[in-house]
Parts: sequence; structure tokens; C-alpha cells
Amino acid sequence: MSGVAFDVASNRSAFPALDQEVDGHPLVYLDNAATTQKPRAVLDALEGYYTSDNANVHRGIHELSRRATEAYESARSKVARWIGAEDPTEVVWTRGTTEAINLVAFAYGLDRLGEGDEILLSILEHHSNIIPWQLVAARTGARVRYIEIDDDGEWILEDLPELVGKRTRIVALNHVSNALGTINPVERVIGHVRMHAPGAVVLLDGAQAMAHMDVDVGELDVDFYAFSGHKACGPTGIGALWGRKAHLEAMAPYQGGGEMISVVERDRSTWAAVPHKFEAGTPNIAGAVGMGAAVDFVESIGKPAILAHERGVVGYAIERLEARFGDRIRIWGPRAIERRSGVVPFSLDFAHPHDIATILDSEGVAVRAGHHCAQLVMKRYGVPATARASFYLYNTTDDVDRLVDALGQVENFFG
Ligand code: ALA
Repeated sequence: MSGVAFDVASNRSAFPALDQEVDGHPLVYLDNAATTQKPRAVLDALEGYYTSDNANVHRGIHELSRRATEAYESARSKVARWIGAEDPTEVVWTRGTTEAINLVAFAYGLDRLGEGDEILLSILEHHSNIIPWQLVAARTGARVRYIEIDDDGEWILEDLPELVGKRTRIVALNHVSNALGTINPVERVIGHVRMHAPGAVVLLDGAQAMAHMDVDVGELDVDFYAFSGHKACGPTGIGALWGRKAHLEAMAPYQGGGEMISVVERDRSTWAAVPHKFEAGTPNIAGAVGMGAAVDFVESIGKPAILAHERGVVGYAIERLEARFGDRIRIWGPRAIERRSGVVPFSLDFAHPHDIATILDSEGVAVRAGHHCAQLVMKRYGVPATARASFYLYNTTDDVDRLVDALGQVENFFG
């Protein structure tokens, strides 16, 4: 779906939280890779749900429960269409990307991996796409292997013939890097895996992709796709796992409880059909409804327009930062703007990233500093942490100017 003409001022006015001051300065919010702000439409959907439809789903034979169930399931259908999935029952609600990956690691990996089997990751992964696999590897005797990255934050694909082979069972990779912003060449890796390890399943961590790029799970030819609502204008605590129906049906339940069963006996039970088999307990109904509203909001603007806007702002940011700080700044990640999402990670040779973020905060500019849950990336570049500005559909070149000015204060203090 394509949106109406891109209007950053109108995008911005849709987000109440942007309209505030921090330490006497108008807020400049540049921590969108951690979580985006929420548009009024999402806040209204949450309030509307709790104000008039609140009830438990799939349980009550009363009007409110019917409405809640309808809202919850129609949000699932919306999310399925958003990722190009034909069958909404292939979408499992989770509390976010992390839970979606853990679900695959434990409900698929634990039962299928054995001694010497291989799980292929990259060192560019977020910890949420490393630790679940390490946990499962430790219990099964499987081995975790990694695609390395070059100085520009790009996967070194020349190593694939050595990394992908008949022991490869699971390939789990991020679509877009949270730490460097690299838009990864997942299609090339998937093509290679399909040819050289036909028995392997492929999971993509789409946490940093869904807000910015059109995603079609069929075209990508993946087995599983994991993503979060809160990084794409939705509420926190809600996300989804898309999986091929045959895998989901063959997998054991991930958690036990109400809603995920068919018949319960004293010593054994049978399971509900997918996706309910994986949704034990009362789900985050309001979160799903809010995520549905977020999908409508993002699609009303259109992701190609969002990405094009981000590229303009990111290009301007890199140009201004390099012009102002020269060889005292190092901007991490791919040089080519079309290889990068809205993320601009950087280091200054005169200040620690945490000091940078603290001074920026006192100037009303919100960025993230730290290892970004990507310690393997930090180790690769020999740094403990970086500062990271991440842009979205409401950020402007004025925000970049405020960032550069605030970094001038950091220089006054430490430089
Ligand atoms: N994964 C999120 C980030 O990169 C929290 O900031």
C-alpha cells in the first residue's frame, strides 16, 4: 500500500510525546531504533479498546468478549497482510521479537538439533538472536557458527561456502542491524542456504526492518520471521512470529496453560490448532489491537516514503557530523546510504559514549549509548560502546542541527 504525500510536519504532529521539553529544550527524539514514539491513532485504539471492548478473548459467550476476540483476530489478519502472509493462522502473537526467537529456539530447535548440528548466526546479531541459540546449543550439543563482518559492517559472504553445509540446521539472521544500521543481503544468504543446505530452516529477526521496509515473507523465502510492535509505532509488549504452517504444526508447544489446549486428561493433553497452541494464557489483547492500529498508521504513510525520508535525514546527518568533527568522529556502519537504515552510530575521540549521551540529554537530545545488545559487534571493532542516533518518519534536518550543536557542547566540555 502506498501512502499520501510525505509530510514530516504532519507526521510529527501525530505523536503527542514529541511535543515536550526536556531540561528546558524542545525534545529531539533520536532513539527510534530502541523504540519509536506512538501516534495518537495507536493511543486512541488502546483507549478505545479498554474503554468499550475490554474482555478476555476466545472464552466468553458475551458481547464484549465477542468484540475483543474480533479486534484481536482482525489485528492478527492485518499483521499477516503486512508481511505478505496469506494465512493469518501462521501469525503467533508474542511479546516481541525476543520471545518470537526464543519460541523457535525452544519449540523447534531443542527437539530437532543434535550433537554436531550447526546453527548459523552472524556477529551482527542482537543478543536476542544469539543467546537463545547458545542456550539450545548447550543442551543439544549443536555448534553455533558466525558470519563475520568487515570494517564497514557488511557480512563477509565469501565465507558462506565454508559456513553452510550438510550440518547446517538453522540459520538465524537479522534483516537490519540495530547496532550499525546495515540492511543485510539476506536474499543472497537464503539463496545460498537453499542450494547448499536444503534441510535447514531460516529465521529472520525483523525487529529493525518492519518500521522501515516492505517485508514479504513469501518473497524472502524464509521459514520464520520475528518482529516487534513497539519499534514500528505500536505498543511495547506485543510482537509476532510468522512461521510456515507445516513447521508450526509440527512443533511442540512452547508454554503450557489455558487457551493452548484441546482436551486435558489427567496424564496427557492435546493441543489447540496453531496459532493458539503457542498462545498460552490471556494474551496482550490491547497490545495486538494497538499494533493493528500501528500497521494502519505506518501504511497510511507508506514504508518506501519513510525509508526515502530517513535516507535524506541520515545523509544530511553524516555530512554534517563529518564536516563538523572531521577525523575526531568515527561513523560506524556501511558507507553507502542505500545500505543503511535510519541508524547512525558514532564515536568521538574526545568523549565516552555515555558522557556524550548524558550531555546530549541535558540539551534535550535523546540518543542511546552502550553496546546496543550487540557485544560481538563492539568486540569486532575494539570499542566498549558507541553513541547511536536513530531517525524515523518524524525526524528532520533541524533535529540533526540540534544534535550537532549539542555535540558541540560535548566538545566544549571534554574536547
Ligand atoms: N534493540 C533495541 C536497540 O537497539 C533495544 O536499542
